[in-house]
Amino acid sequence: MKFDVQIYQETWQHIARQGFPIESTIQSIPLEVFATITSTNTKLWELIDRGNSTPLAAIALKQTAGKGQWGRVWQSSLGGLYLSVGISPQISLSNNAHLIMSTAWGIATILRNYSLPVSLKWPNDLILDGCKLGGIKIETRTQQQQITHAVIGIGINWTNAVPPMAINLQSYYQKSQASDRISSLEALSAIAIYGILSGYKYYQQVGIERLVNSYLKILLTLGQTITFNGCLGEVVGVSDRGELKVKLTSEGATTIINLSPGQISLGYR
Ligand code: BTN
Repeated sequence: MKFDVQIYQETWQHIARQGFPIESTIQSIPLEVFATITSTNTKLWELIDRGNSTPLAAIALKQTAGKGQWGRVWQSSLGGLYLSVGISPQISLSNNAHLIMSTAWGIATILRNYSLPVSLKWPNDLILDGCKLGGIKIETRTQQQQITHAVIGIGINWTNAVPPMAINLQSYYQKSQASDRISSLEALSAIAIYGILSGYKYYQQVGIERLVNSYLKILLTLGQTITFNGCLGEVVGVSDRGELKVKLTSEGATTIINLSPGQISLGYR
């Protein structure tokens, strides 16, 4: 299996000409492509440590130790997109969630521009047809409470075999009438990198309040009923720290609480 850089570059130029998902054009960034490595996130840190400047991207056709959220392994057989982008955001550590929300919003929004009705499961799962299409794992390095470097890792199911409750784009296309289909892994790579960078640029341009509003518009989790500590609740929003706002009703009284990702795990609908 090969990676055709020309298709990647042509797709990038095509997106840049269209002017979406945000109006300003994003300059292309250096990309390194690997056949088999442990993890593109790990590779990106190696590249940064060797003195490569950011932004910078790495793709692997296969990973042997792909990292998922919460210490899980991300199955990474041939056919999937395994991608990491390194940036130097210079934002406060307490705003870590801004990176998560801008990345998730950027990728979902650019995929929606390709007629894929992708939405988000809080905080950062990409959902298509009620199943997981992809996930995001962000790693950061900090200095004096500032994030100096971030590695944004994305896995998107393209033609790879997927676990239960997941979907790949190939099987989605087989049963849909979608126009404007993404035609290759190379094209998907350009779209995903452009989506990550434009999501971050959008956040820099409009700020967290408008980013949260845009994020909420594609958040499947909004309005969902959940149980927390035995109480029934409804998801009513997301805070500017990325916490889930839940309205709990118990014995006639209503309270709104904020939950962080470690406090609750949401299922699929
Ligand atoms: C999740 O668990 O939902 C997040 C999965 C993120 C996987 C990607 S694949 C490319 C990058 N490199 C890794 O080791 N992990 C991320």
